[in-house]
Amino acid sequence: MADDLCFFTKDSFILKSSKKSPLVLRTVVLFFVMVCGVYICTICLKQISTGSTTEFLNFRVVQKPCPEPNIEPWEIPYVHYPNPKTYSRAECACNPVQYFAIMSMQRSGSGWFETLLNNHTNISSNGEIFSVKVRRSNVSTIFETLDKIYNLDWMSSASKNECTAAVGLKWMLNQGLMQHHKEIVEYFNTRGVSTIFLFRRNLLRRMISILANSYDRDAKPLNGTHKSHVHSPHEAAILASYKPVVNATTLIPSLRQVEETTKKGLEYFKSTRHIILYYEDVVKNHTKLAEVQEFLKVPKRELKSRQVKIHKGSLSNHIQNWVDVEKALNGTKYESYLHADYRK
Ligand SMILES: *[C@@H]1O[C@H](CO)[C@@H](O)[C@H](O)[C@H]1NC(C)=O
Ligand SMILES: *[C@@H]1O[C@H](CO)[C@@H](O)[C@H](O)[C@H]1NC(C)=O
Ligand SMILES: *[C@@H]1O[C@H](CO)[C@@H](O)[C@H](O)[C@H]1NC(C)=O
Ligand SMILES: *[C@@H]1O[C@H](CO)[C@@H](O)[C@H](O)[C@H]1NC(C)=O
Ligand SMILES: *[C@@H]1O[C@H](CO)[C@@H](O)[C@H](O)[C@H]1NC(C)=O
Ligand SMILES: *[C@@H]1O[C@H](CO)[C@@H](O)[C@H](O)[C@H]1NC(C)=O
Ligand SMILES: *[C@@H]1O[C@H](CO)[C@@H](O)[C@H](O)[C@H]1NC(C)=O
Repeated sequence: MADDLCFFTKDSFILKSSKKSPLVLRTVVLFFVMVCGVYICTICLKQISTGSTTEFLNFRVVQKPCPEPNIEPWEIPYVHYPNPKTYSRAECACNPVQYFAIMSMQRSGSGWFETLLNNHTNISSNGEIFSVKVRRSNVSTIFETLDKIYNLDWMSSASKNECTAAVGLKWMLNQGLMQHHKEIVEYFNTRGVSTIFLFRRNLLRRMISILANSYDRDAKPLNGTHKSHVHSPHEAAILASYKPVVNATTLIPSLRQVEETTKKGLEYFKSTRHIILYYEDVVKNHTKLAEVQEFLKVPKRELKSRQVKIHKGSLSNHIQNWVDVEKALNGTKYESYLHADYRK
């Protein structure tokens, strides 16, 4: 009986399991169908997405029937056709655009130089964009800002119309350039950005300009407004009437430091396509501006600035302790800074 019972239970178990097995099979089949479904779906999705990208590419090709520019092969990476998000380049959509950055240091004539560039109908130099700290807080914010500028989406008083043929900014070496030089060089070389170095030869004059400018920031003799650049001889004369005292002890070390920063900047960015300018040469020789326009591939124009030079004539008229400065630099390699002068 016990055996029977046992057999029965065994049998019932077998019976039960044989009843169960189609259920398991069904589940397996169902699962298999599900997996197949998902697989087919992904393939479909992939086909749809590749379909849309080819469509997208076709669309772009159709939208950009710009003729191949007649240029040397090496120039190709530096020629761009930006497609601004905020407006249409309209009749100039096929005019190639060059990207540039003016690399300089404070009080080296870059403000004046930029007004000259912006006097050209086809050049937009958007100012010292990275003087705002958040924009240079890290490499990603720097690249985001550059992308916007070079896509012609940066709005400033220097923004021109849709016929901009060269777009850029003014960038001081101490505004993240030296700190992130590796990444920025890579960006410039992959995106085809050219560099315009603008330095000043007479670093003593630059120092006077810095001291006077920082005095003006507090004293504001021009009706209570701080002005780094002026547009009339009258204003220039007022600003130049302040004669700074130069610390003769720290003079040579600080001149040397500026020299070293300049050298380092040139070294870091020398692999970018570049041109080196000195403020004094541009002042003396206007054919330098023709060279810059050639570098930026824009039609040559006579360029004008309304800015007036603040510290004119001999340096001895602009330094309170001239005798100390003369003594400190006499016989050093910086001696020429005492005399070197130019008209205008
Ligand atoms: C360039 O400067 C001249 C003289 O100041 C001015 O008449 C002209 O409108 C300026 N052009 C541009 C594009 O700013
Ligand atoms: C970069 O800086 C911005 C603004 O300061 C910040 O929002 C962002 O998280 C930073 N990104 C990285 C990768 O550090
Ligand atoms: C320069 O701008 C003018 C109009 O402002 C436009 O007609 C001309 O095509 C532009 N030149 C280049 C080289 O983009
Ligand atoms: C101050 O403002 C007055 C009136 O606007 C003007 O006549 C005068 O030239 C200004 N002075 C300076 C130093 O800019
Ligand atoms: C010059 O600068 C040094 C270092 O900052 C300072 O110790 C010294 O007092 C300064 N000399 C004058 C005359 O201001
Ligand atoms: C001006 O610069 C050009 C090239 O930049 C040079 O060929 C020319 O001799 C210079 N002229 C003077 C007067 O220095
Ligand atoms: C410069 O140094 C030389 C000798 O080293 C001296 O004869 C001359 O008077 C000095 N000039 C000035 C302006 O100190």
